[in-house]
Amino acid sequence: MNIIKHSLAVLGLIAAPAFAASQVSISIDASKPGPVINKNVYGQFAEHLGTGVYNGLWVGTKSDIPNTRGWRNDVVGALKALHVPLVRWPGGCFADTYHWRDGVGPQDKRPSNVNGGSVEEINAVGTHEFFDLIDMLGADAYINGNVGTGSVQEMADWVEYMTSDGGSPLARLRARNGHEKPFKVAYFGIGNELWGCGGNLKPDYYANLYSNYEAFLRAPEKSRPKMIASGGSGFDTAWTDVLSKELKGRTVGISVHQYTIAGATWDTKGKDLGFKEGEWISTLANTLKMDQLIKDHAAVLDKHDPEKKIGLMIDEWGTWYDDAGARSALFQQNSLRDALVAALNFHIFHDHAERVPMTTIAQMVNVLQAMILTDKEKMILTPTYYTFQMYVPFQDARSLPLAIKDNTSYTLGATTIPGVSASAALARDGKVYLALVNTDPRNAVDVAVDVAGAKVNAAAGKVLTSAAMDAHNTFQNPQVIKPAAISARAAGGKLSIKVPAKAVMVVALEK
Ligand code: AHR
Repeated sequence: MNIIKHSLAVLGLIAAPAFAASQVSISIDASKPGPVINKNVYGQFAEHLGTGVYNGLWVGTKSDIPNTRGWRNDVVGALKALHVPLVRWPGGCFADTYHWRDGVGPQDKRPSNVNGGSVEEINAVGTHEFFDLIDMLGADAYINGNVGTGSVQEMADWVEYMTSDGGSPLARLRARNGHEKPFKVAYFGIGNELWGCGGNLKPDYYANLYSNYEAFLRAPEKSRPKMIASGGSGFDTAWTDVLSKELKGRTVGISVHQYTIAGATWDTKGKDLGFKEGEWISTLANTLKMDQLIKDHAAVLDKHDPEKKIGLMIDEWGTWYDDAGARSALFQQNSLRDALVAALNFHIFHDHAERVPMTTIAQMVNVLQAMILTDKEKMILTPTYYTFQMYVPFQDARSLPLAIKDNTSYTLGATTIPGVSASAALARDGKVYLALVNTDPRNAVDVAVDVAGAKVNAAAGKVLTSAAMDAHNTFQNPQVIKPAAISARAAGGKLSIKVPAKAVMVVALEK
């Protein structure tokens, strides 16, 4: 009985004595749908790094782990439930030293080489295998080219190999390698982190390089990939300034990377698990800086591109914790805190839907803030996975104006952040969805919801929460944290939803 009472209290369905719930008012205007939240905002990044591709996604056809043409059935099946719209591949810094020809042709004839200085790359996964994965997922491809150690010719050849529809020697080579029809490349990134692992360049120099590369990336008009320029690091808007001025009309977006750490510096990023409340609030406070980052870049873009033709592509984001002797490079556990990080960022991306048409979280499997973790034949779904799943209705939905009144605040020491974060949208299924985050790890909150332009009598959906801030699934116990169903009915013409402490909630509002 006590266990049942505890679970209900955690889910906010009954009042728990320790939780003095405050009342927050949210009003949504369903009669004024705003910009579309591009489904590509829910994109993902899969890099040849650690076990991000090999073992995590790809095991090869001879593996005992059930697979389809080498791709793990369990992982691909789980990813399908997320409706992954877009996958960025093969890096990251890996892309800066990747030579695509090593990854085509008969697998047993492909060379093994060393990428990133020390890691063996067997090249079993190359262009054809990647597109096989993309097909299985029903996603679009975002290929990142090599400026760091490549050449204009090599990149031009790759684009021609993937996109030309016959009549060219590279199209014939592609056909001989098993794919007669061109591949569909939605986006093509010209380089990665040129300010760092891509070559320590300056923005003016890269702007010239970009022009040179882009001019020779030829593809049939109807299947030409949208070209993306590689921008600055985090809050550095100097690159955005130069690139948006110099590359107008020749790029659809400028990529920016922004990671969330718990600590104050990159040498003290903080732990993935077993952290104190101080690291809970610092992580959430740091991740909320994404809003200011987008505003800073958007202000620069507005100067050179008021028509909003250049998107801010946040193609690496998520948490990055200290390496705790990880089982493979950049492998980290993923807890309830990561779920809140994902949800808070989604709300920020929704708010900037017109300037942010695409993001890819780092990364899909076994690396940084992953959806899925694997250990040999075992697989677990992370709290971040469940958050992506709960937010599927927001893909290609129209954002709705939303105002929060009497919001709570959550304070620890010198840090204060808003208690409730919310986002609403009119989804493609015709329903209004409301997403809520309660950042306070101790206190539940009552939210009164008012929808102008629609009478709402009930809400139903899912909530993700747990007793521990670092609640996480393990290979021994994979069901520690997962979403639970939640519903609420209006009383006296008022819809009130109780959001438990430290929770992510997504509900459909019903008449
Ligand atoms: O996502 C991990 C690495 O972080 C990527 O390879 C690089 O682009 C970034 O610095």
